Amino acid sequence: MMTSVGLKVVMAFTGLIFVIFVLFHMYGNLKMFFGPEAYNHYAEWLKHDMLYPILPHGWFIWIFRICLILVLLGHVGAAAHLVVRNYRARGTRYKVKSGTKKKESWPSKTMKVGGVTILLFIVFHILHFTALKIQIGGDYHRLSPYERMVASFNLDSWASVCALVIYTVAVTFVSFHVWHGLYSALTTLGAGRRGAEAFLKGLSALCGLALFIGFLAPPFAIAFGFIE
Ligand code: HEM
Repeated sequence: MMTSVGLKVVMAFTGLIFVIFVLFHMYGNLKMFFGPEAYNHYAEWLKHDMLYPILPHGWFIWIFRICLILVLLGHVGAAAHLVVRNYRARGTRYKVKSGTKKKESWPSKTMKVGGVTILLFIVFHILHFTALKIQIGGDYHRLSPYERMVASFNLDSWASVCALVIYTVAVTFVSFHVWHGLYSALTTLGAGRRGAEAFLKGLSALCGLALFIGFLAPPFAIAFGFIE
């Protein structure tokens, strides 16, 4: 069985991979501000042409998806193990007198609630934009990637109002998760030497804030009619 330190290293390493992914994803979504041609071209390139001709057309996205699923399983699995282990250790080793039980800190609680919320969001998000099973504001099979984004957040229907709320809540949790989690991950991986703490905290807060603004800018620009 893996030690708790081992599990924390798995969580930190997989978490870092996720942070890199969401930063790139956020950057890609900002192409919505450059018009349909730029965004559709980018979406097409990502799905069919990335790493071509090193790999045949369309291979990269599937290799990438398999890697992302493995990383997600590692991250969630390690987190679940640690939560169960901590819970058991608290329950059996120390007898807690009533009224003296140490309260869990709010960042720690928010990380757990946020983790589960983000997981549910990822399922919804893939059904929405990747599998095209949840179609908000039109027939997605007839719309381009740019048009699907606009239809999802243009507030023309109650469904698109709900979509804006769901994405805002999810991105808020993701930003908080990165703000708190990135600092923990870098410290676990040994970057937290004396003097570096303030820098790491600043870097994590900056990444969280960049994700919050960068991810929400296109949906809100659509909702307010700047992108149509
Ligand atoms: C406002 C926020 C977001 C918007 C508008 C957005 C938009 C999109 C779109 C349009 C796609 C489909 C790309 C395509 O197949 O053509 C996509 C895919 C994806 N997004 Fe997001 N996204 C957002 C936030 C997030 C967040 C926060 C996460 C992670 C926690 C995430 C994870 C993914 C994943 C895993 C995929 C699937 C990639 C694939 O096709 O395999 N997204 N997103």
